[in-house]
Order: sequence, then structure tokens, then C-alpha cells
Amino acid sequence: MSSVLYQKVVKSFGALNVLRSLDLAVPDHKFLALLGPSGCGKTTALRILAGLDMPSAGKVFIGERDVTRLQPRDRDIAMVFQSYALYPQMTVAENIGYPLWIRGTPDAGRKAKIGEVAAILEIGHLLDRRPRQLSGGQRQRVALARAIVRDPAAFLMDEPLSNLDARLRLTMRGEIKRLCQRLSATTIYVTHDQVEALTMADFVAVMHGGELQQMAPPIEIYDRPANRFVATFVGNPPMNILPAALSEKGVIVAGKVVPLDAARLAACRAASVAEIGLRPEDCSAAAADTPDALQGEIYVVEPMGNETLVNVRLEGGNVSVRAGREFRGVVGESIGVAFDPANACFFNSAGLTAVHRVNNNGRVT
Ligand SMILES: Nc1ncnc2c1ncn2[C@@H]1O[C@H](COP(=O)(O)OP(=O)(O)OP(=O)(O)O)[C@@H](O)[C@H]1O
Ligand SMILES: [Mg+2]
Repeated sequence: MSSVLYQKVVKSFGALNVLRSLDLAVPDHKFLALLGPSGCGKTTALRILAGLDMPSAGKVFIGERDVTRLQPRDRDIAMVFQSYALYPQMTVAENIGYPLWIRGTPDAGRKAKIGEVAAILEIGHLLDRRPRQLSGGQRQRVALARAIVRDPAAFLMDEPLSNLDARLRLTMRGEIKRLCQRLSATTIYVTHDQVEALTMADFVAVMHGGELQQMAPPIEIYDRPANRFVATFVGNPPMNILPAALSEKGVIVAGKVVPLDAARLAACRAASVAEIGLRPEDCSAAAADTPDALQGEIYVVEPMGNETLVNVRLEGGNVSVRAGREFRGVVGESIGVAFDPANACFFNSAGLTAVHRVNNNGRVT
């Protein structure tokens, strides 16, 4: 296994700039999720690493090796595509063994290795079938088996779960995570599903418009988003964003002054804060006339079984609140929204996070 490095990688298709100087380093043995909305350049970034596309500028390294100009077969990586790309005329065993056959691995060694990876992925009983005789989840396992059958320097996976139904996706999410931990494999996993990224990865790289927004461990992406885009792309329901102004004592949100301690207020002032960000779980439903709560009106109530999502219309915009399962408010009712400003983050007018939530040490950052 090896580390992976993108160095100032640019990719344009004619006038369309798809990657605008991508710098990204994936440490050896780590699982990186490349997360971003449709069209942000995720697949393009993977294809450049795999050698299926050439960058317009910049370099890619696998381990110490500059592989930018190498043929795909000389890069020692394995890629799992969304479509699985199995050979329909071959059996499962032949599909899995194909990368070894190409390399001239003798029959006996190949057979043993096929058996070994088929056992890991629990598809040993399917080896004589053709891909058309398999379910989506079984095909997906075969594609994974084919990727791990030779020990590549890195695994690249492009939305490998997107063709599966919701239930199977959930199961395979855990299975792939286990598999990658067991193999201790350097992995780049492309997804537009923020839950997949957070649950599976050691690091999440969030992309938008061909640019890397932030790369960090999942919890940091969630708790300390670099900007408004990351803050709202990760989390479901997304972080609430409201216009914010400063007063002598605190921040003015939805027509109400919420007191801030002196250090936080000074940090907000220095940064010319324009908006406040609040996660739904950091907001709570309060009685309509609660003194320090924002005042609003219930817009939608969504019982989820274990909790209730309440959407509240405030001056300045709507917010989502995670309330308990016992929540009994009805649409149109007046309601208070309470929050601890220590859990809020603040954005400047450029959309960058100027003041983060207070961390565990009580340090203002
Ligand atoms: N061969 C190509 N020629 C021209 N434009 C392309 C080509 N490949 C990709 N693009 C464009 O580049 C942009 C990024 O595409 P890419 O496939 O990398 O996005 P993505 O992040 O993988 O999106 P998705 O989540 O939908 O798969 C898109 O606007 C796409 O239309
Ligand atoms: Mg894609």
C-alpha cells in the first residue's frame, strides 16, 4: 500500500474547468472519502489518478512514484466503478481472476487467490455463475473481489453502492468499511452521500466546483466546517444559517439579542460576522414566551419515530430543530427556539467560518 498525492492538478474539457488546482494528500493505509455534489469533479479526479484521463496540468503520485505519465496498467491501482464493469461472458471466478491472468499468474496460484478473496466476500458459492445470474449486491461483491485479488497500491471506488437498494447499501457500507480496515488499504472512495463519507472514512475531502473545500477527519468536518458550503452540505437536516448582526452585548438573530461572552463577541467583531450557523440538534423547542429563545411559528412537524423534526419559521428564515419524540406542537402555533451560542459558528460575508463552535477545552477558535 502507498500514499496518494495530487499536486496542483488542473483538468479542463475545452472551456470547462473541472478541476482548478487540486492539492490532496491521502496518507498510507487511510480511507479517504471524496465528497461533493454532482458535477463537482469527483470522478474526473479518480480517473486522473487511475490514468484513464490526463490532467491538463499538475502531477499525481502513488507512493514516491510520479505516475502522471504512466499507463493505467503500470500504476498498480484497482478501481471499482459504479457500473461494476464485469465481463458478461466470463464466470465469476474468471472475472475475479482476470487481473492475475493478465499478469501471467500461474493457474494454481490464481485459483488459490480467487478462492481466498471469494471467501472474504462470501461469494464462494457463486464462482461458476455469469454476472447476469447475480443480484446487484452479488455483482458488487464480485467487483470488489476483482479489485482486491492482487494487492494494489491503492483502491479507487466511484460510488460503488449507488446501484443498490437502500437496505443493501446500508449493509454493504459496513462491509466495505470492514474490508478496507482488514486489508489496511489506501482507499479513495467517491460519493455524493455525506452519510457514507462520514461513516466510512478516516478523512473526508469535500469538493465543490472543482475546488477542494476542506479535508479533515469526519468529526472535524462536522464540528468545524471551513465554510458555509461544507457546513450545509454535511449534516441532515443541514445546518441552519441565519443572518446575524452584532450589538454591544451579543449577536442579533431573528430580531433578538443573544448574549455572547466577551472573547467570542470580540472574535465576531474582528471577523465582520454576517451569518450564524446552528445545527438542528443544537436547537431546542421552547415555550413561545421563553425569554432568551428566538420567537417563531411552527411550519412543519415531521415525527421520525425516535425524534421529531420541527421546522420553524423565524424572522430571517426557517430553521430545523431536533425535538424529542414526545413533541406535540402543531403547525401555525407560536414556538420558541433556544440554543447555546457556544455551539454556534459564525460566517463572514465571504462565507468562510470566522468563529467556530467552542471546543471541549472551552477555547475560542
Ligand atoms: N469527457 C468529458 N468531456 C467534457 N466534459 C466532461 C467530461 N467528463 C466530465 N465532464 C464534465 O466535468 C464535470 C465534472 O464531472 P465529473 O464526472 O467529474 O463529476 P462528479 O463529481 O463525478 O459528478 P457525479 O456525482 O454526478 O458523478 C461535469 O460538468 C461534467 O459534465
Ligand atoms: Mg461521478
